[in-house]
Amino acid sequence: MNTARLILDPRRRVAPVPRRLFGSFVEHLGRCVYTGIYEPGHPTADADGFRGDVLALVRELGVTTIRYPGGNFVSSYRWEDGVGPLDQRPARLDLAWHSLETNAFGLDEFARWVDKADVEPIMALNLGTRGTAEAVELLEYANHRGGSHLADRRRDNGAADPYGIRLWCLGNEMDGPWQVGARTAAEYGRLAAQTAKAMRRFDPTLELIACGSSHFGMPTFGTWERDVLTEAYDDIDLISLHAYYQPVGDDLPSFLASAEDMDRYIDAVTAIADSVGAIRRSTKKIMIAFDEWNVWYQSAAPSTPPSGEDWPVAPPLLEDHYSVADAVVVGGLLISLLRHSDRVTAACQAQLVNVIAPIMTEPGGSAWRQTIFHPFARTARHARGTVLDVLRAGSTTSTERYGEVDAVDAVSTWDESSGEMTVFLVNRVLATPAEVTVDVSGAQLAAIIECVTVGGADLDARNTPDGPDHAAPRPNETAHRAGAGVRLTLPPASWTMLRLQAT
Ligand code: AHR
Repeated sequence: MNTARLILDPRRRVAPVPRRLFGSFVEHLGRCVYTGIYEPGHPTADADGFRGDVLALVRELGVTTIRYPGGNFVSSYRWEDGVGPLDQRPARLDLAWHSLETNAFGLDEFARWVDKADVEPIMALNLGTRGTAEAVELLEYANHRGGSHLADRRRDNGAADPYGIRLWCLGNEMDGPWQVGARTAAEYGRLAAQTAKAMRRFDPTLELIACGSSHFGMPTFGTWERDVLTEAYDDIDLISLHAYYQPVGDDLPSFLASAEDMDRYIDAVTAIADSVGAIRRSTKKIMIAFDEWNVWYQSAAPSTPPSGEDWPVAPPLLEDHYSVADAVVVGGLLISLLRHSDRVTAACQAQLVNVIAPIMTEPGGSAWRQTIFHPFARTARHARGTVLDVLRAGSTTSTERYGEVDAVDAVSTWDESSGEMTVFLVNRVLATPAEVTVDVSGAQLAAIIECVTVGGADLDARNTPDGPDHAAPRPNETAHRAGAGVRLTLPPASWTMLRLQAT
């Protein structure tokens, strides 16, 4: 049996829980939009063609923000193709995913959909094949009240009120050789700065995200961030990070500890951003938008886009079927994001429906929850108030990729208004349970409200449309009061949420 001791103290605060941490991502990729969120003719579709069963699951998931429309897709996207009368919208070749884009769903549909889902939009701009002029035109169409050509086009298309989109991504993964229009860091940094300056003439309060390296392991990592920020530091607010995880071979111990990589990635980018800031003697802090993260089996066959003459409409791409182990990893990644909430102020799980997603659909049929749905939904619902800096001590475990790491990872939030203290924990060890002691300091523990666990068994089980729901959280009966704190046992390879009432 491994052991861990955690000390929760409401005086040890990291930052208020950023609600934008629980964002997601909708890309025109595979079946995320078409037969995902949008399927006119589906039995649950509303007058706009939005699937009602999917909207209900999105609300249950507790998503707060949605990044749109890509991803790699955005780098050759013409936003104008997706607005105006449906029968006049052109079908286009999508160079990123080798698919045919019908443009039946575009900006106005997206704006209506986010309204119904009650989420905040994050709009990504094409800085691959396009530039500053088109970015500002899109901004005028989306956010200007009226009286100008493009704002009046929006009004003519049925949206009298501007959309008021606050968060904008200045391109996507602009260092990636797979990206249409990839650039060098200096080129991109200058373009991002120029576009940001132009956008701020329209609205100086917009929140602008510059592209970081497309992942931690990129050869560009580090110098890219430094060079882009050297060009654009004063003009942008956030820098983006992307990371996808999957087991390498049979190295499950490292996979279960994927949050180590996320921690190191965030810390590294924070250090680079602060060093650029220090050289400029700036008092401004660049925040982090972890705007693509998830488990993704990138080596799986269905991920391969079609090629050659074949340009299908909404082919099934990147449709990973997640296991219970994947759900545990997703729970662990959310712990890492919360722990860094003083710097990570926005994050998007990639993606929302069908494409490496917590929600799956059958065209014309049902919508259902993948295993990874559950830790996300519970964390989004119960991580409230302020993130606490949890003091941790206990057993360690060795991993091939990250060396010796804590066997139990944890973070806690404290909602001062309700007195609720919620602890999110992961036992990252495959075969050994962990006995955890949670001590509350600086507050009085009044009761255990709830303790639920995902995992611990059937790690390879996956959900299907007909059930059972393998990763549905089940009560953890081991949690009990012990002195001024709580004791509980975490099964091997499991994610747990412990909700406490304190005064
Ligand atoms: O989310 C899938 C793809 O992963 C996105 O289009 C791209 O930005 C990233 O490489």
